[in-house]
Amino acid sequence: MKIGIIGGGSIGRLYGRLWHQAGHEIFISSRNPGKLRPFAEGLGDRAYFGDPDQAVAFGDVILLAVNYPSVDDVTTAIRDRAAGKLVIDATNPLTFKPDGSLERTIPENEVAGLVMQSKLPGARVAKSFTSLWTGHVEQHSDVDTPSVAMPLAADVEADRKIVGTLVREAGLVPVDIGDLEASAALDPQSPIWNVVLSADEMRARIDTFRTRKAA
Ligand SMILES: NC(=O)c1ccc[n+]([C@@H]2O[C@H](COP(=O)([O-])OP(=O)(O)OC[C@H]3O[C@@H](n4cnc5c(N)ncnc54)[C@H](OP(=O)(O)O)[C@@H]3O)[C@@H](O)[C@H]2O)c1
Repeated sequence: MKIGIIGGGSIGRLYGRLWHQAGHEIFISSRNPGKLRPFAEGLGDRAYFGDPDQAVAFGDVILLAVNYPSVDDVTTAIRDRAAGKLVIDATNPLTFKPDGSLERTIPENEVAGLVMQSKLPGARVAKSFTSLWTGHVEQHSDVDTPSVAMPLAADVEADRKIVGTLVREAGLVPVDIGDLEASAALDPQSPIWNVVLSADEMRARIDTFRTRKAA
């Protein structure tokens, strides 16, 4: 698969490396592409770097991994080129407050995946890779015997299958939680957010979360 990655920070580099190890072609990007040269050249063949527009043109699948304050700029820039493509949104609707704590930047009753789909109307948005800190993934990723769960959501079943394969290839266990509406369970402050869980533990917590929301 050809994977275009927007954002060459912690998330972009981590999954770029894992998917490259799995045999995919990756194109990683930022506003300052030159700083990604050592990373891409360190991976070797099948790893490229450049700007976000090039990454979107390259990818059959796009991973969106930028800081949330950049989301409006990025989605405006890639909207046309991303049309018809699968965009996996790994962003969290959070910003840092001056005291260093994190603040949710979309209203409590909105779902981040649906917000992203409204910003990229021609793309097929999936939500995954949001809910686990990179340090946890580094520690627990195991391609041979994966044990730690990563949730995913998308409106199209075939897209959920593709994302599930990428989760598995990152050494994690995919937990398909349904459509983008259901992806509220991936958003910050849900009981699965940034918790290391088995797939069974994650499903149990999601059931409880849904029951509470429905009540
Ligand atoms: N870190 C985690 O453990 C983790 C886990 C799950 C989800 N997430 C989410 O994933 C997203 C990325 O997190 P991160 O930790 O990888 O952040 P990061 O290390 O700060 O990297 C963000 C990257 O986005 C790029 N970027 C920012 N604005 C851009 C723009 N307008 N156009 C293109 N690229 C732009 C930056 O590169 P340039 O400045 O060079 O353009 C930078 O490489 C966030 O939404 C975060 O909430 C993070």
